[in-house]
Amino acid sequence: MPAFTASAPGKIILFGEHAVVYGEPAIAVPVTQVFARVTVLPEPREERGQVRILAPDVGLEARLDDLSADHPLAAAVRGVASALDVARLQACTLRIASTIPVASGLGSGAAVSVALIRALAAFLGRPLTDAQVSALAFEVEKLHHGTPSGIDNTVVTYNRPVFFVKGHSLDTFAIAHPFTIVIGDTGVSSPTKETVADVRRGWQAQPERFEGLFAAAGSIARAARQAIEAGFPDRLGPLMDENHALLQAMGVSSPALDRLVEAARNAGALGAKLSGGGRGGNMIALTSPAAAPAVAAALAQAGATATIITEVKSHAG
Ligand code: MEV
Repeated sequence: MPAFTASAPGKIILFGEHAVVYGEPAIAVPVTQVFARVTVLPEPREERGQVRILAPDVGLEARLDDLSADHPLAAAVRGVASALDVARLQACTLRIASTIPVASGLGSGAAVSVALIRALAAFLGRPLTDAQVSALAFEVEKLHHGTPSGIDNTVVTYNRPVFFVKGHSLDTFAIAHPFTIVIGDTGVSSPTKETVADVRRGWQAQPERFEGLFAAAGSIARAARQAIEAGFPDRLGPLMDENHALLQAMGVSSPALDRLVEAARNAGALGAKLSGGGRGGNMIALTSPAAAPAVAAALAQAGATATIITEVKSHAG
């Protein structure tokens, strides 16, 4: 039996993080410069049921049976086995590698889950549909994030821009004109589970105030979709600035994120905001293609530990 490999990209949320957990729309796009890759190698000399997981990037080397049931990697493996009705897996080793920084808003957890689910299903000779992969990865996301919306597993599985509304089927849309985004990493690791839980506490304490913030973020996501479909991506700049202010009001920005957002704007970005869970992780800035290197340099100067320049390509929808 041969080895099977699958990869999945990182992602960024352009608009609507957090509000999306409460039913508002959000827009996310894949970032193919970073990715997770999982290879499943057969171990013909081992007994059925022996599954080893190697993830050198995070210092993990374990037998599946030694991982707790709520460990995301174990949950992904067991999710595939149960979806395919396989009681005891053929002996194998899963090698996990990822260039996506962990807890940074780039969807590393979702990308590892999606790559693992696809590679393992292919190894078992029973490839799954995208809808099945995304649904299984969503179950794992709940272990990572507590009450996720499902946007990360969706954009990473389908590897295309999505206009996402929780509980609704995939809605992709046309990108009439390409645009350039610079991503800046604060280098501060910030688990999404914590910021999602903090926003929930804020909403419980002040439901009207938070629902107002969520609704405003939803309107921005809808306006952004229109601008993207109509071929006016420059209009996204002011919308990003407004969305960042709403995320600050939700309490999920941080001095490091605000510093990078400010540095991007001062270096000529058309707009900037935090992206993902917040409190750390990444921010994004919209720039002209020509200004992107200067914005990336300004971010590095302001303390970004890594920058990525990515083009969101035209897409028929
Ligand atoms: C995380 O990438 C985006 C959040 O909105 C959480 C979620 O939607 O599950 C913060």
